[in-house]
Amino acid sequence: MGKKLDIVLEDLVIERIAAEGKALTHTSEGMVVFVEFAVPGDVVDVRIIKKKKAYMEGRIIALKKPSEQRLAPFCKHFGLCGGCKWQPLPYNLQLEAKRQQVYDQLVRIGHLEVPEIQPVLGSEKTEYYRNKLEFTFSERRWILPDEEPEGLTDVQRLGLGFHVGKFFDKVLDIEDCHLQRDPSNAIRLFIKDWAISHSLPFYNLRGNYGLMRNMFVRTGDEGTLMVILCFAEESPAILPMMEAIAQRFPEITSLYYVVNTKRNDTISDQECILFKGEPTILGVMEGLRFRIGPKSFYQTNSGQAYRLYCVAREFAALTGSETVYDLYTGTGTIAQFVSPRAAKVIGIEYVPEAIEDARLNAEANGITNCEFFAGDMKDVLTDDFIAEHGAPDVMIVDPPRAGMHPDVVYTIIAASPRRIVYVSCNPASQARDCYLMSAKYEITRVQPVDMFPHTQHVENVCLLELKEN
Ligand SMILES: C[S@@+](CC[C@H](N)C(=O)[O-])C[C@H]1O[C@@H](n2cnc3c(N)ncnc32)[C@H](O)[C@@H]1O
Repeated sequence: MGKKLDIVLEDLVIERIAAEGKALTHTSEGMVVFVEFAVPGDVVDVRIIKKKKAYMEGRIIALKKPSEQRLAPFCKHFGLCGGCKWQPLPYNLQLEAKRQQVYDQLVRIGHLEVPEIQPVLGSEKTEYYRNKLEFTFSERRWILPDEEPEGLTDVQRLGLGFHVGKFFDKVLDIEDCHLQRDPSNAIRLFIKDWAISHSLPFYNLRGNYGLMRNMFVRTGDEGTLMVILCFAEESPAILPMMEAIAQRFPEITSLYYVVNTKRNDTISDQECILFKGEPTILGVMEGLRFRIGPKSFYQTNSGQAYRLYCVAREFAALTGSETVYDLYTGTGTIAQFVSPRAAKVIGIEYVPEAIEDARLNAEANGITNCEFFAGDMKDVLTDDFIAEHGAPDVMIVDPPRAGMHPDVVYTIIAASPRRIVYVSCNPASQARDCYLMSAKYEITRVQPVDMFPHTQHVENVCLLELKEN
């Protein structure tokens, strides 16, 4: 544990939203102070929790005068749960802050030349907009500031909810979450109650023991609903529990369980056992139907996914004659979305099950000009692969937060597509990758899209066009 700082700063006026979603102010000496859960215009007293040479970080201990812009948070877990930290910030200010974030990452930090960054495309739904949530069980949940730990029984210490901040072993018990439509809350609460009433041990994240580990709820279109319950060991309690869930929630159309004995929670390398129902749920977009399996990525805000794909398609400016590569294709959604306007689309993705879904989806959608390949991008996308499958006219890339491996970037540069549509959930890694391409490509359009209201996360689409030499 670091030494506890004993610094309190009084009557600070919050100036603006800065990096990582924190608000920013200055001390009277001009030192920058970052403060969470604050709104521009708030007058606050803060306790300093981190002090560096160039800046400090503080936590609000008194809201002396709330900003006129400040809204009342809608969620009872606000302030503790890391999920929707921007609830007090009006949505238009959230969108402005996200646009600023894109500017900072691309221009101020990334030193890229960009055209005017378009206003962020806001989400129609700002609550209940997620189609996927993961909840974690914990034998020792996060104890709330107003609770006396000594007074709690072992059962009262059990939790099922979200990880708190950066702490991997701290889980906040969630009673009511505004992120996913019902019956998400009801399912989570039922599973927790059932496990407690049958004395099933909750997982101990440090010791790696206990049966109940984590769970996923995924809501699809046309009433489809997937639940995946993950156990940390084999147990005779598993099947009765699954049966109880199936009985209580007949609306679950895909009910899976996983026995995951390894140390991390990811299920991408685990067997997902279908207990009841269909293997996949459904995403529907412009008449296309996407079957989504338990391991397959699907954009978590379905409504905004459509707008995002429309931006990608517009930036790709296809005429029908192009060879298009859709890198990091997931279940091949973008590939199929743009396919009617292309001669041929090649999709590449790491998760073999997602590629299997992509092929089945394309076939079911009557699409015949898409081909899908599974593997790590840096191993699959080689000069030889491109020679075999055709030089790309347009590439659409949508990598995970870490961005692209440099080898992948160099292969793209060597392939020299006329246009690269770079979709990213992390403008920092996007800026780094674009910088690598900047000798040959110029950024001609920038369109951020808000996939995650009330959070600092921003999705951004850049169009890169081959420079004329
Ligand atoms: C942000 S998602 C985009 C998915 C898809 N474009 C969509 O809109 O649904 C990133 C995808 O990249 C895949 N991925 C991550 N690392 C990869 C790698 N090294 N090689 C290939 N694919 C990878 C993930 O499995 C995931 O499906």
